[in-house]
Amino acid sequence: MKISGTGSVLPKKVVTNDMLAEFLDTSDEWIYPRTGVKSRHVISDEKLEDMAIEAAKKALDDAGMTASELDFIICSNVVNEYITPQLSCIIQGGIGATCPCLDINCACAGFIYALDIAESHYKAGRVKNVLIVCAEEPTRMTDWSDRRTCVLFGDGAGAVVLTPGDNIKGISLSSASATDKLYQIRTLQPTPYITKEEVDIPLQMKGQDVFKFAVKASSSDITKVLKENGITADDVDHVLLHQANIRIINAIRDYLEQPAEKFPTNIEDHGNSSSSCCPILLDECRRKGIFKKGDKVVMSAFGAGFVSGAALFEW
Ligand SMILES: CC(C)(COP(=O)(O)OP(=O)(O)OC[C@H]1O[C@@H](n2cnc3c(N)ncnc32)[C@H](O)[C@@H]1OP(=O)(O)O)[C@@H](O)C(=O)NCCC(=O)NCCS
Repeated sequence: MKISGTGSVLPKKVVTNDMLAEFLDTSDEWIYPRTGVKSRHVISDEKLEDMAIEAAKKALDDAGMTASELDFIICSNVVNEYITPQLSCIIQGGIGATCPCLDINCACAGFIYALDIAESHYKAGRVKNVLIVCAEEPTRMTDWSDRRTCVLFGDGAGAVVLTPGDNIKGISLSSASATDKLYQIRTLQPTPYITKEEVDIPLQMKGQDVFKFAVKASSSDITKVLKENGITADDVDHVLLHQANIRIINAIRDYLEQPAEKFPTNIEDHGNSSSSCCPILLDECRRKGIFKKGDKVVMSAFGAGFVSGAALFEW
């Protein structure tokens, strides 16, 4: 398969670090050096599904394709207003597609997992055109009085259209159950029979454990996918990493011993928009003309679970 179209959408509301300092015991002086985030786009009156549909339409336009030509839609999403139906079915209706749909929840690594699922369908000869949409609103998961978490996140939607080709060279996935490091719990509807105590807990994070996992997992996934293709990091032109913390990005860069120019970022004014980070960054790089034909691009992401992955492709 190959990537033939990209699109992305951000909410219009921009929240700066100084705006957060108006109601939180925090400051730009604390947030920026430790995370690389200056501002983030936060959902206000938008609906996530509308942003997802718009991102999908942009990717289809970019690929010169109509929704009726799609054979499969995969949506990566952690939370949205609906528990059911799945968001991919809502996107399907919004763009006017008729193909089967699937939602996945692989936290911030969702785009890489979606690529892997798509690749299996291509290898099985079951699809020609696939749409992946990552749509996330992590700002609705955090406690906005918790300065340790809410300052990190922003919202957004990113989409890609895949078509037949051989540009995706390899994908490496890994999972390591560590469910107490990054999680959110919500209550379900009560029944007359529930006797256990249930709690509604906003996003909880052991930041330093997540940091260490992220550096180790992404470094290892990238090394593995490069090795499987008989190349080294020196042969790669661009490394697109999950935009969780600039210090995580720099630590992975140090491990790979590569120059900063190879690592495009948008964390400074986007923050971490979970699985949407990768396709949004991909779309922005593509529209800026950063990728040249034949460039080798590696992407990697990590998230709650823990799950992580890397994908290598040739532009
Ligand atoms: C979250 C993160 C930036 C915190 O940085 P850290 O250096 O580990 O900081 P700590 O959590 O140890 O906190 C240090 C101090 O800063 C304080 N602090 C935390 N957030 C703060 C904020 N926004 N503003 C001001 N002070 C803050 C803490 O309360 C703590 O104070 P204390 O020592 O008085 O208790 C960092 O751990 C990180 O980025 N981890 C990875 C997170 C991630 O990537 N999550 C998403 C994965 S998909």
